[in-house]
Amino acid sequence: MPWIAKDSAGASIETRTEPYLTQSIKDKVTTTYIPRYEKTKGALIPTLHEIQHKYGWIPHQAMMEIAEFLDISPGEVIDTASFYEEFWLNRKGEHVIAVCRSIACEICDHSKITECAKSKLGIDIGQTTDDAKFTLVELECLGSCGTAPVALMDETLHEQLTPERLDQIIDAVRKGQSPDNLGAEGSNPGA
Ligand code: FES
Repeated sequence: MPWIAKDSAGASIETRTEPYLTQSIKDKVTTTYIPRYEKTKGALIPTLHEIQHKYGWIPHQAMMEIAEFLDISPGEVIDTASFYEEFWLNRKGEHVIAVCRSIACEICDHSKITECAKSKLGIDIGQTTDDAKFTLVELECLGSCGTAPVALMDETLHEQLTPERLDQIIDAVRKGQSPDNLGAEGSNPGA
């Protein structure tokens, strides 16, 4: 995900009474992860994974709770979580569109795919639509360079993608239909 300038100082931070770091996560971190490392800080990344696995993203409050639990500074938790683009620090939409931006897809004009998604959804890279339906991101090589440009719609890889095809895919997904039934190319990367 690219860097996006934002007004951090003026941002409001959502909090809730119930902790994100539940007793069961604490127990797992204490018994499984912390003993593997010399310092509790070593358990930071596995703990972030636990939070993301449970909630789908890592809320700011959760990072503060992790800092207190592992006895490290909030800044260290935020630095680590924000360094890895695999960690989601904002709530994801119901569907995630991930356009490959690496070299083969770049040569095959991946920017047309990204621009199509941006204008159709009215969002920028790293943002989620107001109805929380779609999140748009760009990722590095998705391992399908021979069929560039490619993009993932959730778990499904769409190859030799065109803006017109992406337009159809978004419409289908919005209507709750499977884009695989549109009759064009599309395959599951795990298949
Ligand atoms: S560069 Fe896009 S799939 Fe490899």
